[in-house]
Amino acid sequence: MATAAPDPGAAQPDAVPVSPSPGANLMAVTFRIRRFDPEAAAEAFWQDFRVEIDPKERVLDALHSIKGEQDGSLTFRRSCAHGICGSDAMRINGRNRLACKALVKDLSPQRPVVVEPLKGLTVLKDLVVDMEPFFQAYRDMLPFLVTSGNEPTRERLQSPAQRARFDDTTKCILCAACTSSCPVFWNDGQYFGPAAIVGAHRFIFDSRDEAGERRLEILNDNHGVWRCRTIFNCTDACPRGIQVTKAIQEVKQALVTRRL
Ligand code: SF4
Ligand code: FES
Repeated sequence: MATAAPDPGAAQPDAVPVSPSPGANLMAVTFRIRRFDPEAAAEAFWQDFRVEIDPKERVLDALHSIKGEQDGSLTFRRSCAHGICGSDAMRINGRNRLACKALVKDLSPQRPVVVEPLKGLTVLKDLVVDMEPFFQAYRDMLPFLVTSGNEPTRERLQSPAQRARFDDTTKCILCAACTSSCPVFWNDGQYFGPAAIVGAHRFIFDSRDEAGERRLEILNDNHGVWRCRTIFNCTDACPRGIQVTKAIQEVKQALVTRRL
């Protein structure tokens, strides 16, 4: 059951259950969700939904329940539901997370669980933001292998050590949790942002690639890698555990030494 304006003193409406698995211990949890529909109103607002849910379930399960049982207009992105596609990054209790990996029991569910869209990107509707500037910054990094000369007649060989050099940054799922947690990006939407630098790192340090210098020049720009203030928000936010700040530091170092 949904309520439009949260009133701490008011009686809570009945909670609607998520289909429980046998033996589940259900708990009534309030999800406080930031709503915005540009076709209905100019301003965003908060709306509370009560859901009876096994605390071992995920925020994504609660969002599905709310959409299916209480308000079909609730809008959010999701696809794989298993932490792979990167489409359901959102701000949950003030921190960027994937809704499909955030367990309700880890979110102090005795209090309302607060769910908002990512910061720093234009909100299109409810929890959906415009990802185009984020993807454009990624495309600017030439996120593909660049080589010259004839096609090889066999695979391009690489030693385990050469492969390990960029292993961490291959894990990126382009969820934008890092970039949208960065205060520099909040204040300068032109800053390429941590995820684009991670994407560049993945190829700059690939021994088979020949465009490392070009990518370094792009990142030497005013809105490039030097805008990073080493705040570590990006590393804390990354659901893949990528050492984002370390990757940014390595790119800075490569720019200074010009050694890849
Ligand atoms: S580096 Fe991590 S947080 Fe940033 S886009 Fe990639 S997976 Fe998401
Ligand atoms: S739905 Fe794919 S990462 Fe969460």
